Amino acid sequence: MKKYFIFLFSVIVIALSGFVRTPQQKSSDEIIAERVDSVLSLMTLEEKIGQLNQLSYGIGWGPTVKVSVPDEYKDLIREGKIGSFLNAIGAEFTYELQKIAVQESRLKIPLIFGLDVIHGFKTIFPIPLGEAATWQPEIVEMSAHYQAIEAASAGIHWTFSPMVDIARDPRWGRIMEGSGEDPYLGSVMAAAHVRGYQGDLSDLNIIACVKHYAGYGGAEGGRDYNTVDISERTFRDIYLTPYKAGMEAGAHTLMASFNEIGGVPSSGSKYLLNDILRDEWGFKGFVVSDWNSIGELINHGYASDLKHAGEISLNAGLDMDMESRSYITHLKDLVDEGKVDEDVIDESVRRILRVKFLLGLFDDPFRYCNKEREEKNIMTKETKIASLEVAKRSFVLLKNEKNILPLKKDYKKIAVIGPLANSKEDPIGGWGGMGDSADVVTVLKGFKNYVDKKTEILYSEGCKVDDKSTTGFKDAIKIAKKSDVIILCLGENRDLSGEACSRSTLDLPGMQEELAKELLKTGKPIVVVLMNGRPLSINWLNENVNAILETWFAGTMTGDAIAKVLFGDYNPSGKLPVTFPRTVGQVPLYYNHKNTGRPGDLNNHYTSKYLDLPLTPLYPFGYGLSYTSFAYDDFKLSSNKITNEDSIIVSVKVKNTGNYDGEEVVQMYVQDLVGSVTRPVKELKGFKKIMLKRGEEKSIYFTIKEKDLKFTAADMKFKSEPGLFKVYVGTNSVDVIESQFELVE
Ligand code: BGC
Repeated sequence: MKKYFIFLFSVIVIALSGFVRTPQQKSSDEIIAERVDSVLSLMTLEEKIGQLNQLSYGIGWGPTVKVSVPDEYKDLIREGKIGSFLNAIGAEFTYELQKIAVQESRLKIPLIFGLDVIHGFKTIFPIPLGEAATWQPEIVEMSAHYQAIEAASAGIHWTFSPMVDIARDPRWGRIMEGSGEDPYLGSVMAAAHVRGYQGDLSDLNIIACVKHYAGYGGAEGGRDYNTVDISERTFRDIYLTPYKAGMEAGAHTLMASFNEIGGVPSSGSKYLLNDILRDEWGFKGFVVSDWNSIGELINHGYASDLKHAGEISLNAGLDMDMESRSYITHLKDLVDEGKVDEDVIDESVRRILRVKFLLGLFDDPFRYCNKEREEKNIMTKETKIASLEVAKRSFVLLKNEKNILPLKKDYKKIAVIGPLANSKEDPIGGWGGMGDSADVVTVLKGFKNYVDKKTEILYSEGCKVDDKSTTGFKDAIKIAKKSDVIILCLGENRDLSGEACSRSTLDLPGMQEELAKELLKTGKPIVVVLMNGRPLSINWLNENVNAILETWFAGTMTGDAIAKVLFGDYNPSGKLPVTFPRTVGQVPLYYNHKNTGRPGDLNNHYTSKYLDLPLTPLYPFGYGLSYTSFAYDDFKLSSNKITNEDSIIVSVKVKNTGNYDGEEVVQMYVQDLVGSVTRPVKELKGFKKIMLKRGEEKSIYFTIKEKDLKFTAADMKFKSEPGLFKVYVGTNSVDVIESQFELVE
C-alpha cells in the first residue's frame, strides 16, 4: 500500500511538473508572457490605451534631424498616453524621449520608435523592386541587415517594411516599394527582408512590419488608395501569399492597409485582422494602422465619426493607432459605454508589450540610444560596399545589340547625357529615409571615377525629365558628335513613383524620347541607362538604341555600380520581377494570367486580344540578358508521376556558351492543366541563381512536392488536385523548355 502511495505521489509530481515549471524550464515565450501580464496588472485603463497610441514626431523625411522635444509630446509621454513614435530619429533625440518615458511616467514603460526604413536609412540601397530584380534572397537579406544596423544605431527599433503588396498595375506608384507581380518571388523576398531586419534581435536589428495588409496593390486603375475588389480565391492565392510568408519568417508586426476590399476597409476588417491573420495563420505580433487609416474609415463611409471608427478598428483586432488619435481620444468612453470590452484592449496591450520585451527595452530602454555607436555605424565603408553590391546585382540588361556592351575600355571620349546623368536626388528613390543627396555617386561621377586619363568624359543634361524645353538638345548633340559612344540616362524623377504617385501613362516623361531621337541622328552608338520606379513602355528605345540597362533607383552608390556594370567588371544578372507592357493600354498584364475560353490569337478574330497590339509584352516577367549566353539542355524529370508522399526532381543542364563568366537565374514554372477552378498558364515555383564560368556547364535541380501544387480549389479549400501538370524551365517566363507529369492520388 505504501509503495502504491509513493508511486501515486510520483505520478502526480511528474504530471504537475508539466504545469508548474521552474523558470529555467519555461520557454522564453512563457517568461515574456508572464512579464507582460505582470506589467499589465499594474496598468490603469488610461495607461493601457496610451500604449495603443502612436504619433509622428513630425520631422518629415530628409537628412536633418531635430533634437528638441516639443512640450506637447513631453506631457503625453509623462502621462503614459503614448506607446510609440514614428519619425523620431537619432540616438540622442530618442534618448531624450525615452528618458521621459522611463523616468517620469508612472509605470516607466519604454517607448518603441518606428520609421520607414524601406531601402536604406542613411546609406541608400536600391528600391525594393530593384532588390527583387536580383532574384537573390541572400542579397536582399544582407541589404536589410545593413539597413537595420544604421537605423538601430540611430535609435530606431522598428521599420515599416517590407512592403509585400503584389502589383499587377505599374500605373500604381508604389510598385517601386514591393517585389513585383509574383506571389512566389514576393514571398521569398518578404521572408528575406524580415530575416535581414530582425536577425536574432540583437541591438543592431530592428523589428519588421509586413505591409500593407491586405491587397493594397490591387487599387482600381492603379490609383493609389483606391478601391480593391478581388475574388476571394485570387486574393488568397495571389495577394495574401507574401504577407503569410512574412509572418512565417517571424515578422513581429504588420500594418493594416488604407484600402477597402470587397466593401470592408482593411483597417476595420475583423475577417482580415482576426479570422485570417490570427485564427488561420496564428500571428502573435501586433498590428499597427497605416497613417490615419482608422480615421479614414469615415471617408470610406464605414464609420460615422472618429469614435465609431475606433470602436470598429479595435474590435476588429487593430492594436496600434498611427496618428488618427481615435483610440487615445475615445476608447475610454467606448469602454464605459460597453462598446469595447477592456479584455480586447488588454489583448492589444499584451501584443505591444510583448514586442517591447522582445526588443529588450524593459531591460535596457536605452539599448538603441548610443551616440558614439551612431557615429561609428552610419555610412561605413562596409555599408557602402554592400549597397554597391546590391545595386550591381539589381540591374537588368534589356537589350545589347551587337554586343556593344561591355563598353570598350579604350574609348577616347564618352558622352554622358540626359536629365538623370548628373542627378544626385533621383537615385535616392522613393523612400530615401535620411539619405543625403550629397552622398550620391551620380552616373557622371561614376564614369569619371572609373576611367583612366586616356578617356575623356563629356557631359550634357540635354533636357529635364518632365518639361517641354528642348533648348539643351543642341549642347547634347554637340558633345555626342565628338564622342565614341553615348551613355544616355533617361527615366523618371524619384518623385514620379512611390506613395500617391500614380501615373496614367508609362511613357518616358517630357522630351526625353525626342532627345534620344535627335542623338540617334548623330550615328553614334547609344547605351540607355534607365532609372525609374515602375515598368516603362519604351518601345521606341527598344527598337532604336543599341543597348538598354534598367537600373531602377539604385541608391547612394548608383554611378559606381552603373560604370562597373557597363564596363563589364560585373556581368549583369538581374531579371525583371514584373512584366514590362508595350503600352499602358495593355495593363494589367502579368505572366501568371488565365488561359480564358478564347486565348489570344492574332489570326483569329474572336479571341482575347487587342486589334492594334501584339499579344506579348515588351519584356516578360523573369527577363534579363547577360554579356554571355546560356544554353539549356537535358531537361529531365525523375518520374512522370508524383503522389502526396513523394516528390519529383526536375533537372536541367545549363551551359555558359558565351565569352564571359556570368550568372543565370534558372526559373521553374508549373501549370496545372485541368482544375476544379481555372488555373494560371504558368506559376513560378522555384528559381536558382548560378554562376557559370565561360564554357562551364552545371546540372541544376528543383524539387516539386504535392504541397507546391496547392491552390484554393472549388470548395475553397487550399489543396492540390490529381491530374496532369506541365513543368517549364528556362531563362524567363516565356523562353522555356517543357515536360509533363501527373499527380496521382
Ligand atoms: C504609408 C506607409 C508608411 C506610413 C508611415 C503611410 O502614408 O502608406 O507605408 O509606413 O505612412 O510613414
